[in-house]
Amino acid sequence: MSERVNTCAIAGMSDVWDCYRGELDAVEDQIRQNLDSKVALVNTVCAHILNSGGKRIRPLLLILSARAAGYTGRDDVLLAGLIEYIHTATLLHDDVVDHADLRRGRKTAGGLWGNQVAILVGDYLYCQAICRIVGFRSQDVNECLSEACRKMAEGELMQLSYRDDAAISEREYLKIVEHKTGALIAAACRMGAVVADADPALRGAAFRFGQAIGVAFQVADDTLDYAAPRESLGKSLGKDLGEGQVTLPLLHLRTHCTDRERARLAEVMEQKPNINGELAWVVSLMERYGSIDYAMTAARGFVQAAKAHLDPFEDSVHKRALHVVADYMVSRDH
Ligand code: IPE
Ligand code: IPE
Ligand code: MG
Ligand code: MG
Repeated sequence: MSERVNTCAIAGMSDVWDCYRGELDAVEDQIRQNLDSKVALVNTVCAHILNSGGKRIRPLLLILSARAAGYTGRDDVLLAGLIEYIHTATLLHDDVVDHADLRRGRKTAGGLWGNQVAILVGDYLYCQAICRIVGFRSQDVNECLSEACRKMAEGELMQLSYRDDAAISEREYLKIVEHKTGALIAAACRMGAVVADADPALRGAAFRFGQAIGVAFQVADDTLDYAAPRESLGKSLGKDLGEGQVTLPLLHLRTHCTDRERARLAEVMEQKPNINGELAWVVSLMERYGSIDYAMTAARGFVQAAKAHLDPFEDSVHKRALHVVADYMVSRDH
């Protein structure tokens, strides 16, 4: 499998998907095989969310970082399936917290089966992943994954505590993003380096790469919440404004608009969650003040920083693929 991958020419993201198709198909098999609960409802709900077309970006990153560190075995594929379980658990919980109605273009689990089921199936997926991961008997993997889970919960809680907070700073916003999204992507990349038995410096470099692309990814996602055509997202537009979540484009807008516009913005946010009539006005202000560009430029800056973290890795087709994935994280193609 890796022989074939090694001969791949990687120019863009479609080459990455093609070249690692064998590994990603093996991840899908893992995802299916580990769904073996005796409780039918668990399997039904898990199948709904796991078969709904997630990108599998964290599994891909884990595999690429393992291969970039010289790994040729199969443990990366096994761990990759499990990290997707953890990601899926966070989505089940996040959609309850955010009152979301759509995920991956389909009704959310909470919308279909109720929030109690969504929360408990999320717990099941977390625990199933942990049960399997401890079987690898790697202290480094256990530590890095449990820390990522703790940070994700903290990130979501920090975000809740800043809800409606007009005074949130860019620094505080980025800390939330680093916790809720950067942490798991960082763990995925580090776990790849760990299965490859890479030295501590390379493990750290993989972690920092993942963290920076994770932050870039969330900043871009927060921007697309205002700027993407609805059908391309598979989730509802304008959710953050409707939930009182202040993200980078809104932060920028609030510091650059006039006092009068700021007062009107505050009124709009008070109408939440029914801001739909006002979303177009907010987006037009963001365009006028360059807030969308500002946030996307910031996201691209994190991608550049991420690529520099990969310098200690030897050049290879896998490292090249990591660079391509880093750019993809802030593109509008997902
Ligand atoms: C969604 O993650 C949550 C964010 C961190 C923005 P992904 O965009 O990776 O979700 P799927 O798995 O592809 O649906
Ligand atoms: C993503 O957060 C979920 C986690 C990282 C836990 P968001 O709430 O910002 O992402 P979407 O827009 O629902 O995917
Ligand atoms: Mg959400
Ligand atoms: Mg959320």
